[in-house]
Amino acid sequence: MPSDRSAVAGEEGVACYADGARVERVPIVAHRQVGTGTFRLRLDWPALAATARPGQFAMLRIAGRLDPLLARPLAVYETYDSPDAVDPRGDGAGRRYVDFLYLVHGKFTSALATLAPGAELDVWGPLGNGFSRVPAVGHLVLVAGGIGQTALLALGRAARARGASRVTLCWGARSAGFLADADDFRRAGIEVHLATLDGSAGLRGTVVDLLDRLFDAGPAPGHVACCGPEPMMHAVARWTAARGIGCTVSLETPMACGVGICFTCVAPIRDPAGGWDYRRTCVEGPVFDAAAVVWEPGPA
Ligand SMILES: Cc1cc2nc3c(=O)[nH]c(=O)nc-3n(C[C@H](O)[C@H](O)[C@H](O)COP(=O)(O)OP(=O)(O)OC[C@H]3O[C@@H](n4cnc5c(N)ncnc54)[C@H](O)[C@@H]3O)c2cc1C
Ligand code: FES
Repeated sequence: MPSDRSAVAGEEGVACYADGARVERVPIVAHRQVGTGTFRLRLDWPALAATARPGQFAMLRIAGRLDPLLARPLAVYETYDSPDAVDPRGDGAGRRYVDFLYLVHGKFTSALATLAPGAELDVWGPLGNGFSRVPAVGHLVLVAGGIGQTALLALGRAARARGASRVTLCWGARSAGFLADADDFRRAGIEVHLATLDGSAGLRGTVVDLLDRLFDAGPAPGHVACCGPEPMMHAVARWTAARGIGCTVSLETPMACGVGICFTCVAPIRDPAGGWDYRRTCVEGPVFDAAAVVWEPGPA
């Protein structure tokens, strides 16, 4: 992964600053609510669908609107070869549709949720390093908090395809309504375990309580990949470190450009010499080794 990027003037679209990723205007082909404040968006975007790797993301803006001015990042959830497919078929090269799952949060996602099929978005991607190596372990555990599962489905699918005998999703949210489309993981051969703070689905408690429940009495997973709110990722990083389990995290820092120019997205990351420096999560991440992240102090 290059630490910097050069301007690419595409033959079509607008020049942009990410290895071959150009700004494109693409249509919405499907859009529906799937959970509490949670929407599933399908775009006809062949250039991204054919090339995105697990854990990469895209920047999205509503075409023709200046408010909000800045694009927002969303993880590439899954890619498909037909506009109404439920499961992906064939390899990435034959795909042209891409799904995003998002939680209505602020200005952009509130406006996006009102758009119908046919409306257009200005988009660029795929961006970021993603999970550049699918961990070669027998048992991979995916740990998601809130809407963090979106960064993990393609990784779980890739790990199954590469021979992991077991992939488990541990997913925690406020309540059952936020656990939308968990069947995507089940259909991909991923075991799903849920936790909710109000007890409306799965274990009552946090996703770390769920990890304790599932693994403290049995064999430890080979690797953990995690995405969600930072305090939750920090807690998972502590849980894995205490047990000597490798852990990668996908950071969800706010971003403005997504291509390495603005430094909005920096996070403190340790270097091999023992120091640390700010790294741009849009081009050097968003996926990092959990042990390299200098976490904000949190509850012990
Ligand atoms: C690589 C990456 C992938 C992401 N993938 C998804 C996804 O698949 N689905 C999804 O729903 N969301 C995802 N997000 C988060 C999403 O980009 C933000 O929630 C986005 O800001 C929503 O835009 P908005 O205009 O609706 O809310 P905003 O108006 O941007 O945000 C409202 C409030 O949240 C704060 N905020 C903004 N961004 C973040 C953030 N990243 N973390 C914490 N606080 C923030 C703002 O400071 C503001 O106070 C991802 C973020 C990153 C970096
Ligand atoms: S979002 Fe602009 S440098 Fe990362």
